[in-house]
Amino acid sequence: MQTVQDAVALRAMVRGWRQAGQTIGFVPTLGNLHAGHHSLLKLARARTDRVVASIFVNPTQFAPGEDFERYPRTMAQDQAGLAELDIDLLFAPEVSTIYPFGPENSVSIHVPGVSETLEGAHRPGHFDGVATVVNKLFSLVQPDIAMFGQKDFQQLKVIERMVRDLALPVKVMAGPTLRDADGLALSSRNQYLTPAERTRAPQLAAALKQMKALFGQGHARLAIEQAAAARLQRAGFVPDYIVIRREEDLAEPADDERTGLVALAAARLGATRLIDNLSFD
Ligand code: PAF
Repeated sequence: MQTVQDAVALRAMVRGWRQAGQTIGFVPTLGNLHAGHHSLLKLARARTDRVVASIFVNPTQFAPGEDFERYPRTMAQDQAGLAELDIDLLFAPEVSTIYPFGPENSVSIHVPGVSETLEGAHRPGHFDGVATVVNKLFSLVQPDIAMFGQKDFQQLKVIERMVRDLALPVKVMAGPTLRDADGLALSSRNQYLTPAERTRAPQLAAALKQMKALFGQGHARLAIEQAAAARLQRAGFVPDYIVIRREEDLAEPADDERTGLVALAAARLGATRLIDNLSFD
């Protein structure tokens, strides 16, 4: 597997593959790859002739005071994992390649509506940073398909909408959330948890599962959301939100809507902010 940092080398490789009539799959990441990323890479590997991964800790999607500086950077370990998965190319650009005029002077993409609620409300500017960098990466890598994890459900919706609205020639595909045996969704941020917090962390997934069960039994949405928030607080979390929304656009469903719904949660456990979601269908 080759690693390239600059856009010229990346484009030359992609051009060669295209001229040979090969298809390209792409998995963009922030690095610190775990089994969740590997499963997305395997899905891409099974669908396209060539697979490109990117590792770029994108400064514009972290707000001041978030974990940009301490986000785990594990390049050598990530490269070894990618080579084992038979990935063709790792694109690991410098900030100046992605943001030639600097992150503060970049063209910025805002996806109205779906990016403004939930994570968007709690992390202002986050999805502008995500949409902007994903758009730039798509334009550099020019993939046929791009894989994203369902764990970041709202991110997936933001990217799907951007691709449709800007008519980008890429098919966005979703891979399932991978979980530890106790239910905790895999995330690079799990390693911030203390041993005591790690023991309590699966309560987040358990709360979502209980919401789905209560909804299936016919309980009212608002009562379910309140009970779930109270449960998380009792378990030592500080919830930002734990709600039931429409899968399609993350809007609040009407009282009689019973299909196409998803429960989404974000909560702090000590210094770590965890997110998770569970589809009701
Ligand atoms: O989900 C991620 O890892 C990041 O948000 C992404 C899509 C690579 C953009 O930086």
